[in-house]
Amino acid sequence: MLYQSKIAGLGSYVPENIVTNDDLSKIMETNDEWITERTGIKERRHIKKGDGNSTAVMGVKAAKIALERAQIDKDDIDLIVFATLSPDYYFPGCGVQVQEMLDINTCPALDVRNQCSGFIYGLSVADQFIKTGMYKNVLLIGSENHSGGLDMTTRGRNVSVIFGDGAGAAVLTRSDHNGQGILSTHLHSEGKHALELSLKGPSTMHWVPELIEENPKEDIPYFPYMNGQYVFKNAVKRFSEVIMEGLNDNGLEVSDIDMLIPHQANLRISQFIQQKFKLTDEQVFNNIQKYGNTTAASIPIALTEAWEQGKIKAGDHVVLAAFGSGFTWASAVINW
Ligand code: UT7
Repeated sequence: MLYQSKIAGLGSYVPENIVTNDDLSKIMETNDEWITERTGIKERRHIKKGDGNSTAVMGVKAAKIALERAQIDKDDIDLIVFATLSPDYYFPGCGVQVQEMLDINTCPALDVRNQCSGFIYGLSVADQFIKTGMYKNVLLIGSENHSGGLDMTTRGRNVSVIFGDGAGAAVLTRSDHNGQGILSTHLHSEGKHALELSLKGPSTMHWVPELIEENPKEDIPYFPYMNGQYVFKNAVKRFSEVIMEGLNDNGLEVSDIDMLIPHQANLRISQFIQQKFKLTDEQVFNNIQKYGNTTAASIPIALTEAWEQGKIKAGDHVVLAAFGSGFTWASAVINW
């Protein structure tokens, strides 16, 4: 017998420190007009030195809210899944840190490394474990501390103006009603594009001193690299495909979507998808204007805010879709 999983509680957390486009223009050659026009972003949150936040800490803050809303005790969590590309440590992963910080016994803690698609990959993992009956309650977190690793100079401006810090969490549990919950998840990757959006070092191949020695100042591989236009073109293609895959798999039409939550990569990408599918403003949720691209955290933060604003109701068809480094892309179709 296969069970069905549903999202029982959602939570999010962003650091208090707001960094506006004008703030960035004081430390690098950029301006509000360029950032707004190309990305839709007006401001983002950055961890401030000494505010106590880290990827794991923000994840815990989001998780506490999600657990409370789910009314599920931390000791009833059977599995922790943590998605991030900016973990606190090279190893171990943030999952075990969360376990320690939340004082959860000895359940398994699994880290997922699928960048912008990380939350949906994690959702799929959680869903499979619940479906088979192996676990009943799963805590899923997406969290990023981008500001800790960005090149905040003009050299890195095409990447650093886009990304922000934050965390989102979902508690998944076994659904009591057949047909309610996660209907399907769809995961893809295409490794031949791996280096088009990547952070090469530090790694076991290149430790930092070696990197500094080997590379000229203008190409420092311990900062993220992004081939922006190439990523953009692939993103719009794969977003469209994977949304349709999810709808087709469930016999749904575009008009059946009550809420589409696209990974907040770039407002222009979301708008392209919205226009392509002829969706109304009420059918698509965006908050990249406030937070920038928070990678694995973007979907759970957006989902939490949409839910808090009463934009997601029981019985709604909610579609999540993501694209990012790897390349990886994914979608999930939920009957809320
Ligand atoms: O979540 C993961 C997935 N990521 C994405 O989906 C991102 C996809 N890509 C994008 O969103 C866009 O490619 C960007 C927003 C990153 C860049 O927009 P673009 O229209 O592709 O700009 P570009 O990289 O072609 O750069 C255009 C110009 C260049 O100057 P020149 O060569 O024309 O003189 C850049 O040097 O804009 C310049 N530029 C900037 N100017 C002001 C690049 N970054 C900045 C900046 N401020 N921050």
